[in-house]
Amino acid sequence: MVKSLLSKPDVSGAVTAFVGKTHKMYIDGQWLDAVGGDPIPVVDAATGTIIAHVPNGDKSDVDLAVHAARQAFEKGAWGLMGGHERARLMMNLAELIDAHADELAELEAYDTGRPIYETRMVDIPGSSLMLRYMAGYATKITGETFATSAPWELFAYSVRQPIGVAAIIVPWNYPFELAVWRMAPALAAGCTVIIKPAEQTPLSTLRLAELAELAGFPAGVINVVTGLGETAGAALCSHHDVDKVSFTGSTETGKRIVQASAASNLKKLTLELGGKNPAVVFADADLDQAIAGISSGIFFSSGQVCTASSRVLIHSKVYDQVVDGLVERARNLRIGHGLNPQTELGPLVSAEQLQRVGGYLKAGAAEGAEDLVGGRAIGDQGYFMTPSVLTNLTPQMSVYREEIFGPVLCAMPFETDDLDEIAAMANDTDFGLASSVWTRDLATAHRMAKKIKAGNVWINIHNCFDPALPMGGYKQSGWGRAASFAAIEDYTELKGVAARL
Ligand code: NAI
Ligand code: MG
Repeated sequence: MVKSLLSKPDVSGAVTAFVGKTHKMYIDGQWLDAVGGDPIPVVDAATGTIIAHVPNGDKSDVDLAVHAARQAFEKGAWGLMGGHERARLMMNLAELIDAHADELAELEAYDTGRPIYETRMVDIPGSSLMLRYMAGYATKITGETFATSAPWELFAYSVRQPIGVAAIIVPWNYPFELAVWRMAPALAAGCTVIIKPAEQTPLSTLRLAELAELAGFPAGVINVVTGLGETAGAALCSHHDVDKVSFTGSTETGKRIVQASAASNLKKLTLELGGKNPAVVFADADLDQAIAGISSGIFFSSGQVCTASSRVLIHSKVYDQVVDGLVERARNLRIGHGLNPQTELGPLVSAEQLQRVGGYLKAGAAEGAEDLVGGRAIGDQGYFMTPSVLTNLTPQMSVYREEIFGPVLCAMPFETDDLDEIAAMANDTDFGLASSVWTRDLATAHRMAKKIKAGNVWINIHNCFDPALPMGGYKQSGWGRAASFAAIEDYTELKGVAARL
């Protein structure tokens, strides 16, 4: 650990000015205070100090935002706008994001604690890329005509229409990029949106709303309500005038949202939930490539990634070599304040998360897991944690089964060459979000791709995201898909029309 990296670098003038503002919510094209409630503090995870406050929006603020989104959808300019105009606004926003990339990457690193090299490389360019990709679909949403079996002369066709008012509930790990990735297909489809960022990381979403206003989106099309999950989030999910919720976060909260939908208006849901993602290393793999990819797959964002390579299954012939490589990488990660460009491993997002991850490590140790690196909280301020590589595990241990969401890798050897047995080990989980397979054998790779029950199988790479590639969960990792045309489908209703001629 390089001590000096932990201290806080200077924050640029632009970010200091934005963070220091009196923050308001963006509803119906207006900047508003919350109707009630003490403001929510926003904390620098690297120092534990409060850097800003945001409005504590609750049910009455949600009502205002839903009303605005409904009006914009039914009556405003948005409903009359052609796809080409929606696309133009989305392209405008993409341009503005690129033009403010440095500032946004810095703000995101400051707000989440994550290394700025990550937010520069992934979050900000990934956001404008998604807006441009989905803008292309805004003009290409079509239906079909059908030959029917009816005894009459029929003209039968389908149309895909926007679902209506969509609430987008975002977690704290990738607040800017996830808001954009969820919003982009919604806007392309013609929906209006209300974004509720996580209470820990609301700042970049408010900046996104400023840029959306500048881009020229009509009032009410994009609204941002800051607030707590139990109040603002819950109010969106039980609202009778919200047609759709896109939620990204824990499986536990996802289940609560299903219940809220069922108890209110059966609003449609897209859920991207937790994962305990297997990375399967075969004996013939390029081991350097596997070690580098898996290490980055678990330690990127300190493991606070739903698709992290948290469960690594390694053929016994190469087990020691792979584990040694992973341990060496873990030991050499540069830990520091997220705003330091040299930092590779930032703090966890909050004291709560630090405690949660620490709790898992303690439970694992009590059950006999061995940590080859020695993950523990460090530093006299902030929520820093060193990485862990756990071995000597059994499939029953909580560290092996549950989503830890920290820099904790579980390594498990396998002896067999039977792909069904190996796939059974990979699939021995309630989750099914992502996975990776590391081998030089094409047949092994694609057979495993068929057998693994997960929304993504990556071959000789981990965490490979693209606007064109579907992503989402099997099993308890969620419903629906993000990215690709599948995401547009999730924000539309398909209508069958039949006319007797
Ligand atoms: P969470 O799932 O409770 O929070 C995510 C978002 O949901 C936040 O915006 C929150 O305000 C909102 N929310 C919370 N309760 C809600 C409710 N009843 N109705 C509507 N919205 C609600 O996640 P949390 O508590 O921050 O983290 C706990 C664990 O969840 C983490 O340790 C991690 O394992 C997992 N997690 C998974 C994520 C993923 O991308 N799969 C992202 C964040 C957390
Ligand atoms: Mg929660």
